[in-house]
Amino acid sequence: MKIRKCVFPVAGLGTRFLPVTKELAKEMLPLVNRPIISYGVEEALASGCDEIIMITGRAKRSIENYFDRSFELEELLKSRGKTELYDKMLAISNMAEILFIRQREPLGLGHAVLCSEPVCKNEFFGVALPDDVFLNPEAPVLSQLITVHEKIGGSVIALEEVEADDVSRYGIVKPQFAIENGIYKIEDMVEKPKKEDSPSNLAIMGRYVLSPSIFPLLRKQGAGTGGEIQLTDAIKTLCSQEPVWGVVYKGRRFDCGTQKGWLSANVQLALEEPELRDVVLNVVSKEFNKEENINNVNQ
Ligand code: UTP
Repeated sequence: MKIRKCVFPVAGLGTRFLPVTKELAKEMLPLVNRPIISYGVEEALASGCDEIIMITGRAKRSIENYFDRSFELEELLKSRGKTELYDKMLAISNMAEILFIRQREPLGLGHAVLCSEPVCKNEFFGVALPDDVFLNPEAPVLSQLITVHEKIGGSVIALEEVEADDVSRYGIVKPQFAIENGIYKIEDMVEKPKKEDSPSNLAIMGRYVLSPSIFPLLRKQGAGTGGEIQLTDAIKTLCSQEPVWGVVYKGRRFDCGTQKGWLSANVQLALEEPELRDVVLNVVSKEFNKEENINNVNQ
């Protein structure tokens, strides 16, 4: 069956961005010219998903408002003859059919995914963590997972080969065998292993195609790391019951879940925008010149 639903868990507290996220949804932080969440939704739509399900929490109203109509603003733009902007605003609210489900307490990513059960219970569905922004215009990363699911069935998770020194920052899979270059059957997975204990250097990234069998597992799943219901723990159990495949995605990833990652993503992508490139280069070159002058004086 075609995968049409994509779940976006966005109810996390975003503590790494405090104090900004005390009131503002981190998914609404700008990545160059649109909010982070927009990139994920665009990717899901381009991957063939036309039903977007967002699992939201208390401080996330701005996400709902962003994708909704804003009649006041539209009227104002129309009356001032700003047709281009008016069309742009309308296009955002017409972009996707989005269903919002509230996760009452932030009990973890696994629990957030479980909140989508009433909508996804009988079918395979996509999951996208918006912090991971993936860019591949030719083949969106979620579509790469969907293609594998359509070919061989089962659940599919996005993988990235990381440096051995970085494995302790990620969930790492233990591959059983490869069916072709970059596509592995997953035997097991471990959360943030030490370098010397890591079963591979294949790290789990924020895109999944999941079997509905994940729901009973999530319901049974007790709290894991950090006292939260972890999605990885349930997928680990799923591996022993049904095929779970890992795909080393093709494309670029920007980690917007930390301040440093978000800033770096903004700089990198701004450098690719003709009208912003000079702004970044000017600021950076002035800083370089300052440092050079200081070094020359000190010599
Ligand atoms: P993170 O672990 O990145 O947590 O969640 P977070 O709250 O967003 O950010 P930090 O770590 O406190 O800075 C991974 C994904 O799971 C969602 C988050 O919104 C994020 O997309 N999530 C997490 C939920 O939807 N509910 C939860 O209870 C926890």
